[in-house]
Amino acid sequence: MTIYELIKNGEYRLKKAGIQNPYNESLGLMQYALGLNLEKIIVSYEDNISEVKKQTFEKLIERRFKKEPFAYIVKNKEFYSLNFCVDETVLIPRPDTECLVDAAIEEIRRLYGIYKKKINVIDLGTGCGAVAISIAKNFDNVIIYAADNNLTSLKTAEKNIINNGVQKKVVPVFLDILKLNCGENLSLNTSVSVGDFDFYNLNNYDLIISNPPYITTEDLASLEDDIKFYEPVGALDGGKDGLLFYRKIFDAASIAREKIKTLILEIDYRKKKEIQSLFEERFDNINLKFKKIDFINDLNNKERAVKITYG
Ligand SMILES: C[S@@+](CC[C@H](N)C(=O)[O-])C[C@H]1O[C@@H](n2cnc3c(N)ncnc32)[C@H](O)[C@@H]1O
Repeated sequence: MTIYELIKNGEYRLKKAGIQNPYNESLGLMQYALGLNLEKIIVSYEDNISEVKKQTFEKLIERRFKKEPFAYIVKNKEFYSLNFCVDETVLIPRPDTECLVDAAIEEIRRLYGIYKKKINVIDLGTGCGAVAISIAKNFDNVIIYAADNNLTSLKTAEKNIINNGVQKKVVPVFLDILKLNCGENLSLNTSVSVGDFDFYNLNNYDLIISNPPYITTEDLASLEDDIKFYEPVGALDGGKDGLLFYRKIFDAASIAREKIKTLILEIDYRKKKEIQSLFEERFDNINLKFKKIDFINDLNNKERAVKITYG
């Protein structure tokens, strides 16, 4: 059988499984099986391949047929025109999250205009590091702490930091968002510091970005199979109402106001009202010079992120 015939067979099988772009995915899996780029595959369409390679390809097609995400099979996902290693310990970065990176880049430029110093950023729940690394690629004058409470994700993030050459700008940090310093119960927090730097105190950052878990616990069961059965639940579960992490981050942010700060958080566009109320609850009764809330649209024109500036 020729390469082209096998790709067509793969397409047929993936179509049966309801995969949206069956030809492209079958072609991508053939590229991965043979270790060839697109141009090389196309000029080799009429070539025959060995039985061993054929079986390798067919096993990949079977994994995808069972709904294992394409990115996990080929161990790679493109995000913000960069390549990231991904595995089952990290959420696969989504194109909609790129609006978070755009907003962060614009904000770092503005903050740099004010402070004229290296801008300190923390990415809470960094996963494979895609957001932190994509931002860092655009600046020399930033330090971005890429924080997660999953050590295996942090190892993947570290690999991506090295592969993308941003070791001097992105630092992986083990941190639990739910233990951020929230003032009134400081004594309950396990404050982790290196030298004088307390990672759990949001006063230490100019910009706080996050794409936290935000699916309600109840909705987890109705997610599509490729998400539900393969992506890490710890990256998805946002608690009973999906707002667990926003409450914690808003609490910690509202006491950390030594200087002008910005929060940019990905949200579920269906939760815009709840996020707005949470902001009013947490930021209204405190003594601030100013505060501002904006929503940022994604590629599909849905409100995908909230930007809060306060000080
Ligand atoms: C929705 S994923 C976002 C991953 C990545 N930033 C992205 O946008 O593709 C949420 C991330 O938060 C991390 N996470 C979940 N609970 C956490 C906690 N308590 N503290 C720190 N990180 C947490 C998960 O491990 C996961 O990497």
